[in-house]
Amino acid sequence: MDAPPSFDEPFRPQFHYTPPRHWMNDPNGLVYHEGTYHLFHQYNPAANTWGHMSWYHATSPDLVHWTHRGVAIPEEGNEMIFSGSAVVDHGNTAGFGSQRGDSPMVAVYTSNYRLPGDAINQAQSLAYSTDGGATWTKYAGNPVLDHPDAEFRDPNVFWYAPGQKWVMAVALSEQRIIQFYESPDLKTWTHLSDFGPAGSTEGIWECPALLRVPMEDDAGCRRWVLSVDVGSGAVAGGSGSQYFVGTFDGIAFAPDASHLDDAPHWADYGPDFYAAIPWNNVPDPDGRALWLGWMNNWTYAEDIPTAPWRSAQTVPRTLSLRHRNDGLQLVQHPVAELERLRTNPVRLGERTLNDETVSLPKDSLSGRTLELRATLAPENAEAVGLHVRTGKNERTVVGYDATSDSVFVDRARSGAVGFQPDIAARNTAPLSPTDGRVTLHVLVDRSSVEVFANGGARVLTHRLFPGSASDGVALFAQGGTATLLSLDAWTLRSIWGNP
Ligand code: FRU
Repeated sequence: MDAPPSFDEPFRPQFHYTPPRHWMNDPNGLVYHEGTYHLFHQYNPAANTWGHMSWYHATSPDLVHWTHRGVAIPEEGNEMIFSGSAVVDHGNTAGFGSQRGDSPMVAVYTSNYRLPGDAINQAQSLAYSTDGGATWTKYAGNPVLDHPDAEFRDPNVFWYAPGQKWVMAVALSEQRIIQFYESPDLKTWTHLSDFGPAGSTEGIWECPALLRVPMEDDAGCRRWVLSVDVGSGAVAGGSGSQYFVGTFDGIAFAPDASHLDDAPHWADYGPDFYAAIPWNNVPDPDGRALWLGWMNNWTYAEDIPTAPWRSAQTVPRTLSLRHRNDGLQLVQHPVAELERLRTNPVRLGERTLNDETVSLPKDSLSGRTLELRATLAPENAEAVGLHVRTGKNERTVVGYDATSDSVFVDRARSGAVGFQPDIAARNTAPLSPTDGRVTLHVLVDRSSVEVFANGGARVLTHRLFPGSASDGVALFAQGGTATLLSLDAWTLRSIWGNP
């Protein structure tokens, strides 16, 4: 066995989850149980590229610090373990607990069977744990749900309290259809309804999730959100995540009229957000809607220049919905628990930026792991914002563009971009100032930037691979005058114990 990785490699995220080594993709089985947040994910135990898919397991008391637990559900024979979800079976409905009142954890995943020749079949299967997630047993009666279409995957299961039953959303990927099923016991499933094709349909559909999301201004009021990932043709190119807001009556999902038009609603306008699913069983009374996504893009996922691991998950995010003229909009914030990592607070007061770029002195603000909260008045500037991870010929630009009324991230000069020509690009999301102001909440890590604009109304997630010395921050206004009203910044401490 190789020596354990240092977790201090140049591109190793310091406050985002990564496995110690080897390939990772989608988050799987996000579930809370007895004080612990569980994170499983697609994992190749043998290499730093996709293959031998298995579920790896990590746990956290606080959504911030993660302990690696190793492979929980391994590939076996001709069966790979594809994406899915996990639940706590409070009623022991499946009977995997030893007695009434036990609450086993049950994982519902896709078995990807290799058949003779090149053919595959995908069907849904169960594994369970009666020791709080430490060990897992595959159900002897697998698979529990099959379909004539071989491309049938990524079951997302939750307890539907009004109907006292389990509900599953699962993708018929090639058909761009999400199917809904119900079950009394997780073992027998009955088809309820289909949704789709709708919204973005160029790419195959994967990793659906149906969840209740609170209104931002009234947490007691919740609406249903169906998120559906597309393998290609997403807003920033390649793979990405769209969502629909609507109603669910225990049988069918019906999108609001404003979410049925042709223009898809994107959860994230950056290229590196995919396969997000929510945590099941999040404790009341707050019962937050929480998710995270795979911070990568299938276009170049296997080429990103990291070793001995590949891929990261985004930070966990809190979800809510905001009223807009054209319907309800998904709003995301980094979970508040991340504030525990803050150190070295810096506050910059008001300053005018007159068609200039101002590099901040390194001793006032710099770093490779930063949280920045800026409030900007664009005034008559064409663009205003921040440069992060600046260094010799390197910078990543985050700003508001008045000419197109949008927030953008430009990683054309962010660092190593040669491994894939498409990544040297600028991505935008529609965004208008509110009362003449734009807010940018930016999380910078050693190989990523996540931007939450105007209180989480627009989010852009990008991987970047800057030199280790590129740790500067600059302010800029272009083509006119703008005002930085305030900037609060912190260094974020490493969750892996690095200085
Ligand atoms: C999405 C996906 C899923 C599948 C898994 C396999 O990224 O293609 O549809 O279950 O990855 O690793």
